[in-house]
Amino acid sequence: MSTGGSRRPRPRVVLGVSGGIAAYKACELLRRLTESGHDVTVVPTAAALEFVGAPTWAALSGKPVATDVWTSVHEVPHVRLGQEADLVVVAPATADLLARAAHGMADDLLTSTLLTARCPVVVAPAMHTEMWEHAATRANVATLRERGVVVLEPAEGRLTGADTGKGRLPDPEEIFHAALDVLVRGDARQDLAGWHVVVSAGGTREYLDPVRYLGNRSSGRQGYALARTAAARGASVTLVAANTELADPAGVKVVRVETTAELRERVLEASVAADAVVMAAAPADFRPAEVSTSKIKKSDDGGAPPLELVQNPDILAGLAADRPRPDTLVVGFAAETGDASGDVLAHARAKLARKGCDLLVLNDVSGGAVFGSEDNEAVLLAADGSATPVPRGSKSALSHVIWDAVVRLRADGETR
Ligand code: CTP
Repeated sequence: MSTGGSRRPRPRVVLGVSGGIAAYKACELLRRLTESGHDVTVVPTAAALEFVGAPTWAALSGKPVATDVWTSVHEVPHVRLGQEADLVVVAPATADLLARAAHGMADDLLTSTLLTARCPVVVAPAMHTEMWEHAATRANVATLRERGVVVLEPAEGRLTGADTGKGRLPDPEEIFHAALDVLVRGDARQDLAGWHVVVSAGGTREYLDPVRYLGNRSSGRQGYALARTAAARGASVTLVAANTELADPAGVKVVRVETTAELRERVLEASVAADAVVMAAAPADFRPAEVSTSKIKKSDDGGAPPLELVQNPDILAGLAADRPRPDTLVVGFAAETGDASGDVLAHARAKLARKGCDLLVLNDVSGGAVFGSEDNEAVLLAADGSATPVPRGSKSALSHVIWDAVVRLRADGETR
């Protein structure tokens, strides 16, 4: 039973840490959680304390560390922590922790907390590739996911020692965002389970010569938020990223590109049989007719070299006209400014019709405000003529609204 009811000023997060070398990375996650206003209680397992000691957790969380069920027994910590939590995050989660959680064991404070928690639970596994791929771990992960636990996919890369492969703890910043997404939504609904979605992000570059390019100011943050939130809702996600400098979202396949032609090729390749494609990237509309193989030099007469541009193909319009599957949903973005020929909404409606997509996310960029910022404000325009304003909020919050709309469109399509 939850003891909640009255609104608490700070969300309560239990950060479980199990015994893997990646335990030190949980310090960074803890710092992010506390600095962003969360009340965090760290519950390290006995093995985790071999890697990072209780004083570190206590100092970073600003409160005593709950290490075992025998401390402060009168406060019944083995049930109270789980009951009172708004979110439980376990990072790193070892193969052993996943096994104990999947089997409902309660042999230490962390597993007891997991058994009593009625709030969403996010776990970030980290282990050697062989352990992650073992049939026992696969079954345990499947069981936990079935029960609604958000199990992040481990990252690929360097493991303890000289090994490399799948099993690295995702970047702490990414675990932080994934955890916050779940906390903000208040549930860990997997309504995109079984979906394959493709998201593009960033801005393409069109090279003039080996060192110069035409580009734009897109940071890729909105596309990354879309990819991350889709993965958190259970989708298998391919993120085609053009010239971004952001950490790979946990559990997302990231494909890197530079030019619009590469973006198009990779998006089309990834979209075969996709349930939804969201074009959040800002592809350069034009490219130089010719790319000089050597650096273009200044001339002595002070003149500029001629620059002939040709138009790039429209990826979004192409996808909408020739869908990978008849029911693939296609979503576009429009960054608009009003001008003499029409206001922002009029331009966006015309663009929705021209591109033929199902949904267009309109950003008013009159003040240049969206680029690189953490927040976004938008209007969702649907092909049926509806316009839904989304108030200013995080790019993750907007992403969830977009996925909600996509899920609704799919359901409408199925009942039609
Ligand atoms: N887009 C695309 N391929 C292009 C250009 C744009 O797929 N070559 C997509 C973007 O990813 C975005 C949408 O189309 O989802 C709208 O982008 P925008 O630049 O606003 O559209 P344009 O067609 O370039 O319109 P404008 O003439 O207003 O720049």
